[in-house]
Amino acid sequence: MSLPTVTATRYVLPLREGGSLPGVVEGNDLGTYVLKFTGAGQGPKALVAEIVVGELFRRLGLRVPELKLMHLDPAIGKSEPDFEIQELLLRSAGLNLAVDFLPGSFGYDGSAGNPGDAGMARILWLDAYVANVDRSWRNPNLLVWHKNLWLIDHGAALYFHHSWMSAEKFAGQPYDASDHVFSVAAAGVPAVDAELAAAITPALLTEVIGLVPDEWIDDGDRERYLGHLTARLESRAAWLPGGAR
Ligand SMILES: Nc1ncnc2c1ncn2[C@@H]1O[C@H](COP(=O)(O)OP(=O)(O)O)[C@@H](O)[C@H]1O
Ligand SMILES: [Mg+2]
Repeated sequence: MSLPTVTATRYVLPLREGGSLPGVVEGNDLGTYVLKFTGAGQGPKALVAEIVVGELFRRLGLRVPELKLMHLDPAIGKSEPDFEIQELLLRSAGLNLAVDFLPGSFGYDGSAGNPGDAGMARILWLDAYVANVDRSWRNPNLLVWHKNLWLIDHGAALYFHHSWMSAEKFAGQPYDASDHVFSVAAAGVPAVDAELAAAITPALLTEVIGLVPDEWIDDGDRERYLGHLTARLESRAAWLPGGAR
C-alpha cells in the first residue's frame, strides 16, 4: 500500500504561523493542500515522522487530514516575489508531503472541538509514545474543523532518527507531559493504556512505516523504526504520563 500521489499546479500562499514555512498549493486533482517541503529545516526526516505518526494516529481513530505525496516543479512559484520561498521551492524539487487543507478551520482554544477527558488522555498517551514535543498551549498543532478536533504537524516526533539514538535509549526516554496542551488529563492516561497498547501491533507499525516513500528512507531504516517503536511500547513504565498501570 502507498499514499496517493498528485502534482502541484499552483503555489497559492505561504503559511507563516509555524516554523517550517509550509505553503498552500493546488494539485492536478483540483484539491487544495498544505505542502510540507523536503527542503525545509529538518529535511525529509520531518516528513517521515509526519507520515508514520499521522497515519498511526489515523488508524487508531484520531482525525488527521489526509496525506498524499506531491510532485513539485519549482517553476510553479516563479511569480512568487519572496526570495526565501523561491529558495525553499528550489530545494524541494521532486517529492513532498501534501496535507489536505481544511478550509475555515481554526486553532484549538480549549472550547470548540474539546475531545473530552478520555479523548485528551488518548492524545496525551500517543504523543508521549511518539515523543511529540509540538503539542503545547503555545503551539498546540490542533485545528477545529466542523466542530471536530484535527491533529496536524507531527514532524518533530520520532526525534531518535536525527542521530539514530539507540532503541534502548529511546524506549526509556521520559516524556514531559507538563508542557502538553492536555496535561490535565494525565491522571486518565493509565485507563486508556491497555486499549492503545494492544491496538499498536507489529503489523500496524509495519503498515504505517511502509507508507514512507523509498526516496526518504535508507535501506534497513524501516526495520529500525519498527525496532524503536516496538521497544518504546514495551517500556511504558518509563514514559507513561500518570504512571504505569
Ligand atoms: N491541513 C491544514 N488545513 C488548514 N490549515 C493548516 C493545515 N495544516 C497546517 N495549517 C496551518 O498552517 C500552520 C503551519 O502548519 P504546520 O503543519 O503546523 O507547520 P509548521 O511545521 O511550520 O509548524 C498551522 O499552524 C495551521 O495554522
Ligand atoms: Mg506547527
